[in-house]
Amino acid sequence: MSSASSRLNLSNASLVRRRLLGTAFALPLACAFRPVRGAASRRTLVVCYSRTGTTEALARAAAESLGADFRTIEPREPYAAEYSDMTDLAREEKHTGARRELKGPLPDASSYDLVVIASPVWWGGLSTPASTYLTDEARVGHLKGKLVATLHTSGSSGPRAARAEAERLAPDARFVGEPFIASGSRARTRTDQAQAWARKLLEEAL
Ligand SMILES: Cc1cc2nc3c(=O)[nH]c(=O)nc-3n(C[C@H](O)[C@H](O)[C@H](O)COP(=O)(O)O)c2cc1C
Repeated sequence: MSSASSRLNLSNASLVRRRLLGTAFALPLACAFRPVRGAASRRTLVVCYSRTGTTEALARAAAESLGADFRTIEPREPYAAEYSDMTDLAREEKHTGARRELKGPLPDASSYDLVVIASPVWWGGLSTPASTYLTDEARVGHLKGKLVATLHTSGSSGPRAARAEAERLAPDARFVGEPFIASGSRARTRTDQAQAWARKLLEEAL
């Protein structure tokens, strides 16, 4: 073998080695950062109401795993800052089925495949801003046939009544997955659980 061709073979061999090494490192990286199946082809929206940031922390974490657009909703008139005034009014709203008008424009669910409604549990059910949003989007037909999931936080209550309320307010939507719940004083730290829930939701729903 001439020295030129042996140089050539050597450089070929080192090229192959480099390629193999590159692949060996690139594969685990590609797996770690590979978007969850379906995320790229389906459009997902997370709509969140959060008064003190707990639900928002988990909804943002879930949105990241879902590759979702993230939007918050806010009441046009803020609730009273004083806790017992605020909770009294919210209780009255829930018991009378009152609305809480929202700052516009509302997040438009119509161009999404999957919509996650994130709301704290209020008096066993949805927060009034979240129920107002669902009512309005359902009324204009934006949720018809959409996949809808719910994510909640609470002091201690479970998510069932909040989920049932969402299903009642948006009867044309197709509710999917188990509702997510994180409760108690450390609820906002449960971002890993919210992300695991989001990944499972994608596997099941899309
Ligand atoms: C008006 C109001 C009603 C609430 N009702 C309940 C309830 O029925 N059950 C419960 O476990 N927690 C209840 N909570 C506690 C909240 O669900 C909990 O603190 C939640 O994590 C707050 O989320 P946020 O920070 O996103 O607003 C209530 C809180 C408020 C302000």
